[in-house]
Amino acid sequence: VISVDATHPGASISPSMFGIFFEDINFGADGGLYPELVKNRSFEFSEALTGWHEVLSYELPKGIDPPKGELDIRTDSPLNATNPHYLRAHATAPGYAFYNVGYRGMGVTSGAGYRFSAYIRSKGPKSLRATLTDPSGKVIGTGKLEGFMGSGWTRYETVITPTATVPDARLTLYVDDIGDLDMDMVSLFPVDTWKNRPNGLRKDLVQLLYDMHPGFVRFPGGCIVEGRQLITRYRWKTTVGDISERKTIINRWNDEFDYRPAPDYFQSFGLGFYEYFQLAEDLGAKPLPILNCGMACQFNSSETAALGQLDEYVQDALDLIDFANGPVTSPWGKLRAQMGHPAPFHLEMLGVGNEQWGPRYVERYKIFAAALKSKHPEIKLVVAAGPAPSGEPFESMWKTWREQHADLVDEHYYMSPDWFLTNTQRYDHYDRNGPKVFAGEYAAQSAGQANQDNHNNWQTAIAEAAFMTGLERNGDVVRMASYAPLLANKNAWQWKPDAIWFDNLHAYGTPDYYVQKVFANNTGTRVVPITPLASDGLFTSAVLDERTHELIVKAINNTASERPAEIRLQGIAPSGNATVTTLASPDLKLENTFEQPTALAPESSTLDVKSSTVEVHLRPYSLTVYRIAV
Ligand code: AHR
Repeated sequence: VISVDATHPGASISPSMFGIFFEDINFGADGGLYPELVKNRSFEFSEALTGWHEVLSYELPKGIDPPKGELDIRTDSPLNATNPHYLRAHATAPGYAFYNVGYRGMGVTSGAGYRFSAYIRSKGPKSLRATLTDPSGKVIGTGKLEGFMGSGWTRYETVITPTATVPDARLTLYVDDIGDLDMDMVSLFPVDTWKNRPNGLRKDLVQLLYDMHPGFVRFPGGCIVEGRQLITRYRWKTTVGDISERKTIINRWNDEFDYRPAPDYFQSFGLGFYEYFQLAEDLGAKPLPILNCGMACQFNSSETAALGQLDEYVQDALDLIDFANGPVTSPWGKLRAQMGHPAPFHLEMLGVGNEQWGPRYVERYKIFAAALKSKHPEIKLVVAAGPAPSGEPFESMWKTWREQHADLVDEHYYMSPDWFLTNTQRYDHYDRNGPKVFAGEYAAQSAGQANQDNHNNWQTAIAEAAFMTGLERNGDVVRMASYAPLLANKNAWQWKPDAIWFDNLHAYGTPDYYVQKVFANNTGTRVVPITPLASDGLFTSAVLDERTHELIVKAINNTASERPAEIRLQGIAPSGNATVTTLASPDLKLENTFEQPTALAPESSTLDVKSSTVEVHLRPYSLTVYRIAV
């Protein structure tokens, strides 16, 4: 028997509690959500010709000499100060050619438009021809930038429409005349983006996020906030404004020691803070930016900004609030308006530091809090509890945050499926009057934290679902929760497991993604007492949605047998049918794949609910959500 007693609905809970954590890891931004096809378009990677190659003789039909010329990276009279390098193609014979390989190839779709553009400064040549070719060398699209004039930098563009769908095309450029041609911000960008925005986001990936109805978007990470050194920390101010003026830096996940070394992992910041705020708005989610607190990434935390040098960091936080919420007459509000969004982004919370701990972190937080709380008491601050969900430094950080009356404490857990199943009551006894919890990063790890053998299967997902019933039942304490990481490029990942996998043309949600989606699509406004909470493989939670007048009951059967059950409703009268959403598979090892992207996906049905006793059959290994009109 599952008893739901709505006579006295419990605490108010946040309907936006299940959100998303976005970090540019696994080529989640450049090479992923940000669909630029040219790798290193601004020649600012440490090896300035990364991604670019001259056409070599063996790549040409037999008997044809490669056209003569030279590629040269130059810095004199650059496009602008933050983009100091550019490419000079010095053609000594017409037809000098070179190409870009894209992010593990370029994914193009037959009949779709791709905007080919570049800033050009010509010292002779009048045009730059482009071809898209498939791996066999067959030309599947052409375009030409032409009519070069004047001695300064000018942007030219045209649209290339491929005649074939190819996951690994390449873009070859030809200088048709003899002479020097300078170029920068060489771009091939899909016309068809999310909401058709120029510089927009990859449509299929945003659609998966949109379908989740996430309550919030946390960005830009993760460790990426901190950088391996402070010099490469995330600085939001360098990620806004004209894309050609955003300063490319190395990605923190560009690491020879990672499972998949990615020496070509940089951040163009084409997806920057403006685009993150816009994404959150598009998804109907609250924005949650996390800022560097003056400390580099964990193991490197010996590198900290001295307390006396924190002014710049604190000012960045204050200015960010202006950028998001300030009037268009304020300097940063003005930039937001110039970028196309005069209305505020309604920022309500801000994270100070990611996954940090210890006295040096607390000292720095206090400086931030003093400045932010005095100027912006309306903004809630998120602080970290360190990397582990118990023991030290977790306990002492919580003690500190209680003393500091912190608003929200960010807990991370990358633990085994068993840990999730045995921790469903973790928050039942948390202090109701202390700081609130933000379960900011979690994912069940089938083989060990970030282990390359980890799987996104039904076993990990159902364990997370069981755990999430505990988050929801304690929604007065746990205000927000997000699975992490969110995205992974099949050909360029550093961390497993991840909610959504993609290649250059396709994407699919894992069972873990679908658990997140089912919970985020079925949030409520009040907790409703339910029993049993966790017993013999059964996990439950119930919430009332006062907006839609529905009682939402979630039940997880984590056993191999079908489970007949009676849901007994008290203190509430059902008024007809219920909609039922089920995620189920008898096979705990089941995974979604590119070939079978929805092997496990929610199924919908309806159920007659005429009385206060509802007979149900919980399928083996299943998550079932009943939305009962009341
Ligand atoms: O989600 C991957 C990483 O895990 C995050 O960048 C970091 O915060 C955590 O250690």
